[in-house]
Amino acid sequence: MALLHTLAPSVTEQIRADHAHALATFHQFRADMPAERKQALVRNVCLAVEIHADLEEEIFYPAMRELGPDSELVAKSFPEHDHMRLAITRLRSMAASEPDYDKTFLDLMRDVLHHVADEETTLLPAAERLLPERLGELGLRMARRRVELTAQRAGELGATAWQALPESAVGAATAAWHAGTQWAGRMTSSWWRRR
Ligand SMILES: [Fe+2]
Ligand SMILES: [Fe+2]
Repeated sequence: MALLHTLAPSVTEQIRADHAHALATFHQFRADMPAERKQALVRNVCLAVEIHADLEEEIFYPAMRELGPDSELVAKSFPEHDHMRLAITRLRSMAASEPDYDKTFLDLMRDVLHHVADEETTLLPAAERLLPERLGELGLRMARRRVELTAQRAGELGATAWQALPESAVGAATAAWHAGTQWAGRMTSSWWRRR
């Protein structure tokens, strides 16, 4: 467990960091910001939410489901993620100048905030209470899968990166998220070389 933790943050630490990144990016949103910057910000959040939802569904939720007691919250999480994916698809088809663009994004963020609150007040503490011996292993699997998903979407990630925003607007959590993505790649490849 201690060794695994030196290779990757635990699964709950990664999930909290992803939440912090999405919320920090959202807090940069202003209705009156230039359309191009607004679109970059929205696309960055959408991509981060999609990758995060995939990681949870593939690695974290199945482990929680095995426990039973919190399986109801896990079951509810899948349709909530799907609901977010629909809003993301809709946002991608829209121009930032369209009248419904802001409302669609703000509705998505309301859903994300609600979902994050459920996870951070129920699911993550339950995982830390009931699965302490698996947090490191799940974290390593999540870090490895994150590298794959990020690589598959490298083009989009580049196009939505924060270069579109002023340097001063880069929040600490956003910087940490990007650093974490790069770090996951380095650690995972060195981990595999040692196998
Ligand atoms: Fe989730
Ligand atoms: Fe989450």
